[in-house]
Amino acid sequence: MKEHKSALIDSNDHLVDGANGLNVENGLDLKFKTKLHFYLNGTSVEINNPEPETTLLQYVRSVGLTGTKLGCAEGGCGACTVMISSYDKSFDKITHCSVNACLTPLCSIDGKHVITIEGIGNVENPHPVQERIALLHGSQCGFCTPGIAMSLYSLLRNNPSPSEKEIEECFDGNLCRCTGYRPILDAAKTFANPSKNCDATENLGCGRADCCKLKNIDNGVAFDLKFPQIKFKEYDVTQELIFPPSLMKYIPEPLYFSGRKSKWFRPVSLNQLLYLKSRYPYAKLVSGNTEVGIETKFKKLSYNVQIFVGDIPELKTWEFKDDGLLIGANINLSKFQEILQDALEHYEPHQTQIFKSLLENLRWFAGNQIRNVATPAGNIITGSPISDLNPIFLSSKTLFSLSSLESSSMVATDRAIPSESFWTGYRQNCCEETEILEKIFIPCSKQGQYSRAYKQAKRRDDDIAIVNAGLSVLLDDNNQVKEAAFAFGGMSWVTVRAPESEHFVLGKKWGDQNVLKGLLEKLCEEFQMKFSTPGGMATYRKTLVVGFMYKFWYDVSKSANIIVGDYDDDIENFVGIIERNISKGVQIVGQAEKDKTIVGKQIPHLSAMKQVTGEAMYTDDIPKLQGELYGALVLSQKAHAKILGIDATEALAQPGVKGFFSAKDVPGSNIWGPVSHDEEVFASEEVNFAETQAIAQEAVGLVKVHYSELPHILTIEEAIENNSFFPVNRRIVKGDVEKGLKEADFVFEGETRIGGQEHFYLETQATLIIPKIEDKEFEIHSSTQNPTETQIVVASVLGIDANKIVCRVKRIGGGFGGKETRSIPLSLALAVGAWHLKKPIRCMLDRDEDIIISGQRHPFLGRWKVGVTKDGKLLAMDIQIFNNGGWSADLSAAVLERGMTHVDNCYYTPNMRITGRLCKTNIHSNTAFRGFGGPQGMMIAENIMCEIADRMGIDVNDFREKNLYVEGQKTHFNQTLKDWHVPLIYRQIKNDSEFEKRRKEIDKFNSEHKWRKRGLALIPTKFGLSYTTLHLNQAGALVHIYLDGSVLISHGGVEMGQGLHTKMLQIAAETLGVPLETVHLMETATNLVVNTSATAASVSSDINGYAVSNACKILTERLKPYREKMPDKSFKEIVHAAYFDRVNLSANGYYKTPDIGYNWDKNEGQMFFYFTMGAACTEVEIDVLTGDHTILRTDICMDIGRSINYAIDVGQIEGAFVQGVGWCTIEETLHFPNGHVFTKGPGNYKLPGFRDIPQDFRIYTLKDAKYPNLKTIHSSKGVGEPPLFLGSSVFFAIRDAIKSARQSNNNGATVVLSSPATPEIIRLACDDEIIKSCKVERKNEESAWVLRV
Ligand SMILES: Cc1cc2nc3c(=O)[nH]c(=O)nc-3n(C[C@H](O)[C@H](O)[C@H](O)COP(=O)(O)OP(=O)(O)OC[C@H]3O[C@@H](n4cnc5c(N)ncnc54)[C@H](O)[C@@H]3O)c2cc1C
Ligand code: FES
Ligand code: FES
Repeated sequence: MKEHKSALIDSNDHLVDGANGLNVENGLDLKFKTKLHFYLNGTSVEINNPEPETTLLQYVRSVGLTGTKLGCAEGGCGACTVMISSYDKSFDKITHCSVNACLTPLCSIDGKHVITIEGIGNVENPHPVQERIALLHGSQCGFCTPGIAMSLYSLLRNNPSPSEKEIEECFDGNLCRCTGYRPILDAAKTFANPSKNCDATENLGCGRADCCKLKNIDNGVAFDLKFPQIKFKEYDVTQELIFPPSLMKYIPEPLYFSGRKSKWFRPVSLNQLLYLKSRYPYAKLVSGNTEVGIETKFKKLSYNVQIFVGDIPELKTWEFKDDGLLIGANINLSKFQEILQDALEHYEPHQTQIFKSLLENLRWFAGNQIRNVATPAGNIITGSPISDLNPIFLSSKTLFSLSSLESSSMVATDRAIPSESFWTGYRQNCCEETEILEKIFIPCSKQGQYSRAYKQAKRRDDDIAIVNAGLSVLLDDNNQVKEAAFAFGGMSWVTVRAPESEHFVLGKKWGDQNVLKGLLEKLCEEFQMKFSTPGGMATYRKTLVVGFMYKFWYDVSKSANIIVGDYDDDIENFVGIIERNISKGVQIVGQAEKDKTIVGKQIPHLSAMKQVTGEAMYTDDIPKLQGELYGALVLSQKAHAKILGIDATEALAQPGVKGFFSAKDVPGSNIWGPVSHDEEVFASEEVNFAETQAIAQEAVGLVKVHYSELPHILTIEEAIENNSFFPVNRRIVKGDVEKGLKEADFVFEGETRIGGQEHFYLETQATLIIPKIEDKEFEIHSSTQNPTETQIVVASVLGIDANKIVCRVKRIGGGFGGKETRSIPLSLALAVGAWHLKKPIRCMLDRDEDIIISGQRHPFLGRWKVGVTKDGKLLAMDIQIFNNGGWSADLSAAVLERGMTHVDNCYYTPNMRITGRLCKTNIHSNTAFRGFGGPQGMMIAENIMCEIADRMGIDVNDFREKNLYVEGQKTHFNQTLKDWHVPLIYRQIKNDSEFEKRRKEIDKFNSEHKWRKRGLALIPTKFGLSYTTLHLNQAGALVHIYLDGSVLISHGGVEMGQGLHTKMLQIAAETLGVPLETVHLMETATNLVVNTSATAASVSSDINGYAVSNACKILTERLKPYREKMPDKSFKEIVHAAYFDRVNLSANGYYKTPDIGYNWDKNEGQMFFYFTMGAACTEVEIDVLTGDHTILRTDICMDIGRSINYAIDVGQIEGAFVQGVGWCTIEETLHFPNGHVFTKGPGNYKLPGFRDIPQDFRIYTLKDAKYPNLKTIHSSKGVGEPPLFLGSSVFFAIRDAIKSARQSNNNGATVVLSSPATPEIIRLACDDEIIKSCKVERKNEESAWVLRV
């Protein structure tokens, strides 16, 4: 045997050339190929000895297929989704799987067909999936869109007529930060069978030319024909890219690749695998790579030898045995789901309890792309304490069969290990080095056995568990417990059983309330936790253990027909999870004005088709340039420290590393800052959280930075305690607050705490800097909302004039404020490198780097004292507002100001004093984020309204209505409210949402259900439009008409998905009187339109629209004589005639916002140009036992004036709303006490997904409003930010439900709810007897595991 081995692989573990194969006693035939062969979009590809470290994503992007995007590199966003097809000879079946290319090793795709977004269609000939997503407004910034299209495409390839449910489920591994998902779902559901896209009760259609509403005409159904009707391509399965016939003849062969850092083996039989494992006991087996990929990328583990086990048939078999299911350990989880489903048919119902439990937890296991590759073996061997499968295996006597080659005889041996003795410690098990997990035996349940599975996470779809459980009991005929197995994940270092509780219940009678009481007490005793326990949430986790058991108790009782007395009628309503209905949406919007042919039309985003086909280019999609280098940042590892020294010697010694630059290398100024100049480009002496240097990425870990640590401050509370503030001391005073408080019948005090929010634009910060040797010019391609400031600051850092620098932005993959200033540091660092090395340099931040350094929405704290009259009128408010600015001032003062100006929301208070302090801490520098402090201010206002109403015992909606501003009243910053429509909106939404009727229904529901509660809230909003920094309220545009009659426009705004360019083109075409198709916009660039303001504050359409319109008006005026002279001529002929007459066909447009200018010292002058207003009514349901929630229905009414494009504005409303929902529910940003960010990727930081949106989502634009005072372009209104705050209607509906839960428990204490209302916060706020029994108190010196800053 030894000789054979050395004939194969030499002593350095290299494959010996010409090794011709190997025959050993057990029939092993091992001959390695060193060439990878697969198909890519129908074309055969062969790669000699590919690098094992390369992911499929890196590969496809490197060959120019840049439609597949990198959003996170950890399988958490779906931006990289591609489809892999393979042929299974034994079943003669082709399977198609969506996978995350970011986690798929390139080396694992031998013999498969990879289809990327480019493979399914292009702009000229889009696939129906692409066409429908684009035309039905499913793409905004477009960065997520190819991945989403590929998920849908993969579903259709397997199932051409899926149900609506299957369609909703296929997106569980995809995220979109822009759209709010509704339009994508609408587009996807056009493929559903049967298509029920439009609601029979609504007077609207779905937008399809073959909409069922149109067919119903003859049935006398009244409907509105004005919705845009679109003719889609038919979906014809026969037109799909075929599976390459040659691959059907593919015979898998062993592969061996040797790379820079590791070797890769791909055995194709179990014997080959066992042999290799005996030869390389330390080798890492790789299956779906969904654990190993994370370990190598983020935990920086490296494995010299990797053995891919994904193509071994013996590990993918299954068998329905008499007493249980035997599966190969490396079946993928999607297949495992199918087999379990079949098992339900195959076995008697009483035998399937464990299979059903597995199915239940697999439903919530990751997303499709992960389940399509991940395996039970990977889960079991990893042994994560929060594994979703292990609790079920542990409570079900599952057996694990381990195999190896016996070392002396080389004969395969195996041993079966019961699940109880398999795991031995944190991520440890009893598997020997040479062993592999071959098979898993899952027993059938017995007669009288009941098994259930539970999982609670922050988000229901695609999230890791906080606690999960596999619970099982066997009852005898008298309902006495014969066996019990209670296994929990998330309660220790490993999945654990609860032996004392199991023992307690043995022999006792199920259904006896005393037994339940004792069992719950026992569980509480058994799971002792410390407040500081790793993972945090000690009380909540204990509560979940008890909550799951509570559900289990009643569920089993019901199933075993045991009458328990209490809740008998209600049991079914609370024992399971909250199941969602299929979501649906309705949009009832205004129409274009009669005299407008283009403005006001629902035109799809003009880049949508390019985005959905992957043709749209983002910064990192620009093809690699000659000599280009890659920059990487060395990040501070300390929250606050002095740098004692930096040693880059080892990094510089690495091959391929070209340079390392620090503060001393900055040719111009090392200091910058958007408002205060308080930031260093590179840290010199004092390190704050995110000071950086650029070198090649691999060398980052080799740069040694020596620090002397300084005390750090992280939270607002710590900053207040330590008097750590930036020198910003804002005040707005109106009336006499002291007098008002004195005259008030009631004075209430309280505190409102609001957490931060990560932007999570799908495209991370990215820059490419190209130095030009001639004249020392620089060209910057940056993913920025602020090209001018990028240009100006780079010039200052390089010490050159701004006229030598051009910053270009084609589009960005979402910004939301996070790229307004925090995009600039990356450009600065790269510019210094490019200056010295005279080479183009590129960097696109990894998601974790981006989150760590780029700043977030500001956490806020409001401390308030409010005086109210006994008839419920606000009389005086004294509010102190604090926000957490982080380590530098950035835009934090302006954010604080906006918070202060919005703290009234829509309510009039005659006497107000608002003070604002900006906390200086050592976290990342917080920055602009959609709403810019406004939502935080309004959140304080609405918490005040709720808490005061509750304390006074009055109805909060009456209280709100009573205090709404009326037309002509003045705000606390003395702005008179004109065209004030909030009372009208409030009335309309109350009516449209059937508020009163539903209130009664909800009250009835709540009185009938103890553990499920519903809540309702109706929240208004007003949002001030214009930058509060006066000089920013200006814009420019440049319009050229070419001799062929085509028009090119440029303006200062950046396209980040909000549809700005589409609206600008509509305005230009309307003003010039030309068809939309003849007007084009190439990019935003600082050499086209100069000194632009950042694209922000929701005013970009307003100011750039006027600038474009003004330029077009100049040209229209110049062409007027020719049009009059030549009424029958085409535009081209008119342009020609003007040109020959030497008329200038190029014009500059300029605009500055009139009337505004506020003086903070005097509290006078107009702060905002106008207000955008709206209101939302939301109904939710919460699961009191777990803190889970769902949004049953939301109605939003927005006053957006006369929209330039209603479809785009609806997209802004829905997208902002869903982002607002995330902000105040599941998006929780957390820091460790040492200052490191905990929530630095989609694994820990949860955005709302497809199934977190309202199940019934209705959008209305305000009807019958007049705008005598509105002076905006075409009387439209800014809409990007204003709807975000309406997401808080979900928060307040949850609060309402919690209130009801407390009432059921006779707990009348006022609900004080901090935002975001995560499941943990919701559950603890219910404050019932279970919470009290599970309470984990903080001991003296204990610190929390993670903090809300
Ligand atoms: C985005 C994302 C979401 C996730 N969500 C969940 C979730 O909801 N619930 C959950 O429990 N987990 C989740 N996980 C974790 C992971 O997907 C699972 O643990 C999965 O089952 C791992 O399977 P794999 O095939 O990808 O393992 P791999 O990464 O390929 O391997 C994992 C480990 O198993 C070993 N191994 C694989 N096969 C064998 C074998 N036959 N014999 C011996 N050792 C073997 C490997 O050597 C390695 O140590 C998630 C991961 C990601 C990236
Ligand atoms: S980039 Fe692959 S899932 Fe996010
Ligand atoms: S369109 Fe989905 S992330 Fe922007």
